Amino acid sequence: MSLLNEIEPLKQSALAELKAAPDPAALEQTKGAWIGPNGKFTALMKQLGTLPKEEKPAAGKLINAAKVELEAALVARREELELKAALPKEPTDFTLPGRRRPVGKLHPLTQVTDDIVRAFRKIGFVVADGPEIEDDYHCFDSLNTPADHPARDSQDTFYVGAPASPSPGGEGRGEGGTKPAKPYLLRTHTSSVQIRVMQSQPPPIRIIAPGRVYRRDNADATHNPTFHQIEGLYVDKGVTVSDLKGTVEFVFKELMGSDVKLRFRPHYFSYTEPSLEIDFTNALVKKLGKDWLEIAGCGMVHPQVFKNVGYDPEVWTGWAFGFGIERIAMLRYGINDIRLFYENDARFLKQF
Ligand code: DAH
Repeated sequence: MSLLNEIEPLKQSALAELKAAPDPAALEQTKGAWIGPNGKFTALMKQLGTLPKEEKPAAGKLINAAKVELEAALVARREELELKAALPKEPTDFTLPGRRRPVGKLHPLTQVTDDIVRAFRKIGFVVADGPEIEDDYHCFDSLNTPADHPARDSQDTFYVGAPASPSPGGEGRGEGGTKPAKPYLLRTHTSSVQIRVMQSQPPPIRIIAPGRVYRRDNADATHNPTFHQIEGLYVDKGVTVSDLKGTVEFVFKELMGSDVKLRFRPHYFSYTEPSLEIDFTNALVKKLGKDWLEIAGCGMVHPQVFKNVGYDPEVWTGWAFGFGIERIAMLRYGINDIRLFYENDARFLKQF
């Protein structure tokens, strides 16, 4: 048989073996056996030189075309085997439920805050904001609580040292024209936002201010040095305690359901006169073995507070309140330890 006639059958055998190689190792072996340096197909190429001159071009062409075909078959089989190796060994059950990515949730305190804000928005309140690092004027003095006022003791907090600033004109008390730095502190309540809002705009005002506050409390089941409050302030002409009661009752019923009962007790806050404390009860409070739970402080804005922000107390009247968001969330979800809110334990947070 002439060389020319050998090419096609050899190619066919080589192709068949390459395509049948069961795994990568066998494929490499087959490659060596046919197109490696000592391969059968390579041997054929070596014989080219022995052909008569006139046969060489046709045979060379055929051999080259066959070699290209064999190399393509090699690459194709290699890819096929790689794909086979990457496929799962077990058959896929397409009827199984898909794998779901866990969806994140809002923190229960954020959810409760959002609900409170939503309830107040229904009756025309807007959200206001203020700094958490506050000066003692906005946190205390402007709220009618001067430095020697006993009410400050119960809200003693974290003071943040501020550098003494040089003051021009020698007005400072210290040597070299420096005056004592204005004391800054982590705000003890959101009531400071009342002052900032009133300083920045004329009445009428209808705001709520949710936010983080800080006290030097030791953490236990009902206390934490950081917690959240929501402040409310309403200033207009002819505002009365009945507006306050009606508003607070509306919001608590929106939040906790219609079986809610509220009780207003006389109290003392230096920035309201009269001042009241709000007690709350519903089925859950009863279940906890209590008749009432103290839930908020409130009152009619003190005339001195209006004077401090430049409002005429003869013209303007208003009420304010402040309550803790954690307490509402605990009541709402039946949580018995405030610290659970801050531990970031997903098993706890997932429940809300
Ligand atoms: N600031 C008070 C506290 O932290 C709560 C409070 C009481 C806020 C009376 C008020 C208010 O606006 O009028 O305990």
